[in-house]
Amino acid sequence: MQTNSAQAAQRIGVPRETYAGEKRVATVPEVVEKLLKLGFKVAVESGAGEAANFSDDAYRAVGAEVVPDAATLWAGSDIVLKVRPPAAQEVALMRAGGTLIGFIWPAQNPGLMQELAARGATVLAIDCLPRTLSRAQKMDALTSMAGVSGYRAVIEAANAFGRYFSGQITAAGKVPPAKVFIAGAGVAGLAAIGTAANLGAIVRANDTRAEVADQVKSLGGEFVKVDYEEEGSGGGGYARVMSEGFQAAQRQMYAQQAKDADIIITTALIPGKPAPKLITAEMVRSMKPGSVIVDMAAEQGGNCELTVPGEAVVRHGVTIIGYTDLASRMARQSSTLYATNLLRLVEELCKAKDGHAVVNMEDEAIRGLTVIKGGTVTWPAPPLKPAAVPAARPAAAPVPEKKSGHGHGGGAPVSARTLIIIFAAAAALFACIGAFAPAAFLGHFTVFVLACFIGYMVVWNVTPALHTPLMSVTNAISSIIAIGALVQIAPPEAGTGGRPDELIRWLALAALVLTGVNMFGGFDVTRRMLAMFRK
Ligand code: NAI
Repeated sequence: MQTNSAQAAQRIGVPRETYAGEKRVATVPEVVEKLLKLGFKVAVESGAGEAANFSDDAYRAVGAEVVPDAATLWAGSDIVLKVRPPAAQEVALMRAGGTLIGFIWPAQNPGLMQELAARGATVLAIDCLPRTLSRAQKMDALTSMAGVSGYRAVIEAANAFGRYFSGQITAAGKVPPAKVFIAGAGVAGLAAIGTAANLGAIVRANDTRAEVADQVKSLGGEFVKVDYEEEGSGGGGYARVMSEGFQAAQRQMYAQQAKDADIIITTALIPGKPAPKLITAEMVRSMKPGSVIVDMAAEQGGNCELTVPGEAVVRHGVTIIGYTDLASRMARQSSTLYATNLLRLVEELCKAKDGHAVVNMEDEAIRGLTVIKGGTVTWPAPPLKPAAVPAARPAAAPVPEKKSGHGHGGGAPVSARTLIIIFAAAAALFACIGAFAPAAFLGHFTVFVLACFIGYMVVWNVTPALHTPLMSVTNAISSIIAIGALVQIAPPEAGTGGRPDELIRWLALAALVLTGVNMFGGFDVTRRMLAMFRK
């Protein structure tokens, strides 16, 4: 970490995107506030957020400086946050030795990489984030953009489709639900499945990776399998190119789905490869007039043979949408998510919260992202160390043994011996207490020990995800103490002669109030937690 006392805070700059039609902006006022709290200064080019409905005044109001033009912005910024890769004229404006964070796509843009390196820049490509690191998920802009795009794909389809999505019975007649088929159930595909199902359509989906079948179902879709045994997972959550035999069987299944579906949304892609052609011209011809295809892979050549990238065209009575800017069409939402992803990254770069970013190449996530460091191209990053995952496996291996350990004898000899010692010590302690403590204490103590044991066993054998509802319901049940408090509050029986102790009654009242909070709060938390598991 750097020592910072003498250094002025770095300035983060956010230019207006120059790519034609791009409406997103790399940061939003809500996030500017948080960047300022990290100690940075923030400058925004005038009009940068306009297309996403964030005015200059909104940025000013939270403490950003609004600068009049791109040249001033780039020249005065130590770190520039962007959405699209910079154009050549933007690279020329960049401060020598500055830092750039945004989408870069180094494999597709070798020329840009050379230009940036020549300026001695440090470049963090958000598209190169190692997505399989769970720590990196908060920075995963590809996922957040694909989620928005999958949602928008359904909305575009609904807009072009001349019917309801949900089935309806009206006085004017019965309307059948729309049938939506989704090809590719990655991030965008799953978002599309959830959105279409929520609109009331019948949703079917296919993917070459069989592992996504459960996710499709959990979002309200039906997984349609290709009648051919072949695993499509290529590792890291991505697919691999399938055999000819599989592709033929898949084409046959897709031909059937095309005849039946009203809407097809295609998202199939293998990184670094042209999009597989899954929907042929013949399949388009077989669709009902008025049907819609949204081809999300249009930019990579399209999953449909008749797609025109960037446009919506009508072929054989079917509207084929090949927009390549779906996230930008929901600019306010996608900018907010993107800005939050970048904020999380800046937080990682500035752990000291002193307004200075430190690119720590020892950190796997940061190493993966850093494609140029001080003018030296560092892309591609070495593969992730497998340490985290396989190391966890041997360590986890004894766990099933322990779990089945409520059968017996399976434990390691050492732990069995330890167990005997613990039991012997507990028995001796009990004997001592029995010998010296009053009889009533022993009774209560036994109940207490048994309660601890049962409570421990119950919690231990419940899936961790259910611990919160379990704890809250046990909390609620433990509120039986309310009965004790009620007994104490009650006036003394006539003829017993005893005056109620006022202090005890007040304490009982307090116990009653607190137990009420515990009881109703417990049930409410349980209800809310369980609602998260319901569809
Ligand atoms: P992803 O990699 O998470 O999903 C792609 C899915 O396609 C994977 O589940 C993969 O197993 C599946 N797949 C690959 N080959 C297949 C085949 N032959 N048959 C069936 N399934 C197959 O990618 P993500 O992030 O969901 O993006 C999906 C597509 O949408 C990409 O082409 C991406 O570039 C595009 N996209 C388009 C946007 C737009 O504005 N049009 C915006 C965001 C993403």
